[in-house]
Amino acid sequence: MSRLLAAETQESAATDPPLTRINSTLRDKLPGALTQVMASAGSTGKMGAGNQLIPLMIRKLLKSLRLFALKLQLRQHGVSVKGKIRGNNVHLVNRGRIELGNNVGLTSFPDGDMSRTSLSTHTPEAVIRIGERSKLNGTTIHARESVTIKSWCLFGPGTVIIDNDSHPPVRDRDARRGDPASAPIVIGDNVWIGMRSLITKGVTIGDNAIVAAHSVVTRDVPANTLVGGNPARIIRQLD
Ligand SMILES: CC(C)(COP(=O)(O)OP(=O)(O)OC[C@H]1O[C@@H](n2cnc3c(N)ncnc32)[C@H](O)[C@@H]1OP(=O)(O)O)[C@@H](O)C(=O)NCCC(=O)NCCS
Repeated sequence: MSRLLAAETQESAATDPPLTRINSTLRDKLPGALTQVMASAGSTGKMGAGNQLIPLMIRKLLKSLRLFALKLQLRQHGVSVKGKIRGNNVHLVNRGRIELGNNVGLTSFPDGDMSRTSLSTHTPEAVIRIGERSKLNGTTIHARESVTIKSWCLFGPGTVIIDNDSHPPVRDRDARRGDPASAPIVIGDNVWIGMRSLITKGVTIGDNAIVAAHSVVTRDVPANTLVGGNPARIIRQLD
């Protein structure tokens, strides 16, 4: 399809006003987002920059396809989505419940080497809730009980939020393979978690807090504070 598009676009650029000759059949075949980009470029007379427009259109097309695939994937895994979703490529395990608010972003790095966003509920009782406009970027969440993220939060790549220990911390080899302890995690509104941080079981992070990169958060974080380090300590109050 892209070869066809390229030929058509070059021909139009050489002879006619911008994009007016793109035939309607081709237009019908393109996803809505791509058609919109082409229409707006045509109306602003920027088709002379056709060489730049084609990669842009391809990027837009790929973005639409990734979003489409994400929506299918979420539906397949029984994830509840209230309103719009943004993002591309995630890993999902849903043995419990996953609830996403309006305009949640689930992004991974399609071309980079940082983590893929991953949401896992490991028991039938487990729930992950993510509030509106919160954005995960290469972030991993594991829940055996619950992880609640409120609205407008930002999560850096490589961050892990896990409400359980995965294994009991005991000496015996067999017992270490038993069920781990778990406790709910709650992350307030407008929290920013820097990259490669770890949030452990039972932690509550107050509204507007910031967790500096590479921190290990094992205790509650008061609202409106910047914390950092391993274990994370209060660095300062936020203005
Ligand atoms: C949170 C952050 C933005 C704060 O920046 P800042 O306000 O300029 O902080 P400063 O550099 O002035 O550091 C203030 C203090 O915190 C300490 N600190 C800063 N980052 C720290 C970290 N990641 N871990 C531990 N301590 C840290 C500093 O050593 C300094 O301590 P001092 O006062 O004893 O010297 C920054 O630390 C950070 O984590 N940046 C990366 C954010 C990120 O991950 N982005 C990508 C994903 S969204």
